[in-house]
Formats: sequence, structure tokens, C-alpha cells
Amino acid sequence: MIQKQQDDGGNKKVTMKINNQEYNLVIEPHWTLRELIHDKLGLTGTKEMCDKGACGSCTVIMDGRPILSCMALAIECEGREIETVENLEVVGHPLVDAYANNHAMQCGYCTPGFVMTAKALLDKNPNPDEEDIKDALEGNICRCGTYPAHIGAVLEAGRKLEGGKK
Ligand code: FES
Ligand code: FES
Repeated sequence: MIQKQQDDGGNKKVTMKINNQEYNLVIEPHWTLRELIHDKLGLTGTKEMCDKGACGSCTVIMDGRPILSCMALAIECEGREIETVENLEVVGHPLVDAYANNHAMQCGYCTPGFVMTAKALLDKNPNPDEEDIKDALEGNICRCGTYPAHIGAVLEAGRKLEGGKK
């Protein structure tokens, strides 16, 4: 007998990996990935500011690319590998200390989005220059005006990655 993957309300069984852990979930069709991660799974580091794809605060990494989780439907994430800001502490990523050392936050609400965008950049290019960082972070918005500090934080994390001190 073929098991139904979708019930009559449109809920669907979806398997995905989040922070290297496999999840088998029943997902309602209207849930965004941000709702799933933050509201349903309790990974509250991923923030929502605009819920319109305009601010970058909800950024997570999916299959190696930074994406806006408020713009992705969770039901469409079958088989995806997702990384949230919580994972950076687990793996001891240098961005964690670099953000603290450079005071690259005020209220902190936008910070996880900046950090995950920066993580995706450093995964591809561990030695970015200032222009690379500005280009990567251009979609992230900070109401507290912390922009210059992000450059220093990402440069510092890059130096540590290049030095092999992950
Ligand atoms: S909350 Fe997703 S882009 Fe603003
Ligand atoms: S630190 Fe407050 S919005 Fe960026």
C-alpha cells in the first residue's frame, strides 16, 4: 500500500536536515520556513522583521546558499539541508567571537541574519575583502545603524579561518 504523503487538509510529511539533525515533520501548507524554524521548532535565533523579503533578518543557509526563510514555504523544503544561527556556536565558528569583539550589534534583532549571510560568504570565500563583504551584506538591513562594524567582524572571522583557527 502506498502511504499518503498529504492529508485532506493539505498537510504534508516532509523530511529535512536542520543543523545536521534530521527532522520528519508534518507541515501545514501555509507555514513559511521561518515559522517552522522559529515558532514550531523553537530555534528562535532566526528573526522576523518585515515578513516581506525586504530586510534579511530571517536569513538561513539552505544547501549552501543564504535564503530568506520568510519567503520560503516549509512544505517545499523536502530533502533540503538548512543551517541556522544556532549552529555557529555548536561548530565554534569564528564569526561568533568576531561579532562580539567588534560590537557588531545594538538591539541584536537583525544580527542573526547578517551573521548567516556572512557565514555563507565565508563558506565560499574565507578571505573576502571589504567590497566582497559589502556586496554580500547589501540585502541585510539594520535599524540601529551597525553597518560599519559588520565589515570588521567578517574581516576578523576571515582572518581566523585563513589561519586555520576555526
Ligand atoms: S523577515 Fe524575512 S526578509 Fe525581513
Ligand atoms: S542591531 Fe538593531 S536592528 Fe540591527
